[in-house]
Amino acid sequence: MTEIYQADRIEEAAQALRDGQLVAFPTETVFGLGAIASNDQAVQAVYQVKGRPSDNPLIVHLAHKEDLFDYVKDLTPDQRSWVKKLQDAFWPGPLTLILPVKEDVFAPTVTGGLDTVGLRMPDHPLTLQLIEAVGFPLVGPSANLSGKPSPTKLDHVRHDFDGKIAGILASQPTRIGVESTVLDLSDPRGLFILRPGHIARGEIEAVLDGPEVSYPDQLRVEADQQPKAPGMKYRHYSPHETVYAVTADRMAEVIQAHADQAIFCAGREACLAGLPAVAQTYSLGPDLKTATQRLFDALRGADDCSDIDLILVEWIDEGEASAGYQNRLLKASVQVFD
Ligand code: TXA
Ligand code: MG
Repeated sequence: MTEIYQADRIEEAAQALRDGQLVAFPTETVFGLGAIASNDQAVQAVYQVKGRPSDNPLIVHLAHKEDLFDYVKDLTPDQRSWVKKLQDAFWPGPLTLILPVKEDVFAPTVTGGLDTVGLRMPDHPLTLQLIEAVGFPLVGPSANLSGKPSPTKLDHVRHDFDGKIAGILASQPTRIGVESTVLDLSDPRGLFILRPGHIARGEIEAVLDGPEVSYPDQLRVEADQQPKAPGMKYRHYSPHETVYAVTADRMAEVIQAHADQAIFCAGREACLAGLPAVAQTYSLGPDLKTATQRLFDALRGADDCSDIDLILVEWIDEGEASAGYQNRLLKASVQVFD
C-alpha cells in the first residue's frame, strides 16, 4: 500500500527513505520520485519502477545551497562564480546545474555512468523539510511512468505508482507545471541549456552578466546517438491518441477538417470561445502561465478519456517565455499547425 503522508508525518516519510524505500515528493515544478541518493539499491528501484533507461541520469535534490560544494569537484574560478550567482538568483527554484561530480559521494547509478551530476534545490517547504529530515540529498526524477506526462497533481502520482512505492508526500498541484531548466556548466565549449523550463535563457544571461548561454545544436537526436542530455533522446509525454499542436487562429479549421473524429481540444479560454462543438474540451486558463501549469494535466486527461480519436492542444508562442511549454508540447505532438 502507498501511504499518503500529510505535512505532520514528514518524519515517517524520512524514515522510509532512510530505509531505502521510495517516497514521491512535491516541488514547484512537478512531483519527484524520491530515493536517498546514497543507496544504490534504492536508486536502482527508481529506474525500475519508472521503467526508465539506466543511461538517463537522475537529478539530485539538496536542502541547502552550500551543500552543492560537498558533491562537486575541480570547479574553475568561473564555474564557482557562475554557481554562486545562479544560486543567489534562482535557488530554491526551477534551475538544475550540471557540474563535475566527486567520486563515491552518490550511489553509482545516480549519474548513469557520467562524470557529471545535475543538482537543484527545489522551492517547496515540505520537500526541503523532508530532505533535511532524511539527512542526505534525494534523487528525484519526475514521478511518472517513463513516457507519460510528468505529474503535477498527487492523483497523477497515485495513478502511475499506487501500490508500487512506499508513499507520497501530499501537496496541492504544483505551481509551475513543467520541469526545471537544465543548465550545463561543465562543458568547456560553453554554457548550454539542455532542457528549457520556467527560467529563461535571457534571465540566466542577465544574472551571469558575461557568458553567452546557448542551446545545443541538436536537442533531438536519433536513438543510436549520444545526446548531451541523455533524457532528450527519449520520446516523452505521449498519450495514446495522436496529438496536434494548433495555434488559436487555426483551431476551428483543424477541427472542421477532422469533423468525422472524436476530438479532445485543450486551449486557453480565448481559443476555446466560439469553436465548433467537439467531444471534449479542457481549459488551459487565461494565459501562458496557467496553460503551462495545466498542460500535463490536459494530456493526462485526454489519455484517460475513452472514445477520443484526436487530441488538439493550443500552440502558444510568446517567445522565450513559452520555451518550456513549447518543448513539452512538441514532445507529445506529431504535428504543429501554425
Ligand atoms: O523539475 C525537475 O527537474 C523535476 C523535479 C521533480 O525536480 N525532475 C526532473 O527529473 O524532471 P528527470 O529525471 O525527469 O529529468 C532530468 C533531466 C533528464 O533530461 C536528464 O537526462 C538530465 O536532466 N540530466 C540529469 N543529469 C544529467 C547530467 N549529469 N548530464 C546531462 N543531463 C542530465
Ligand atoms: Mg521526467
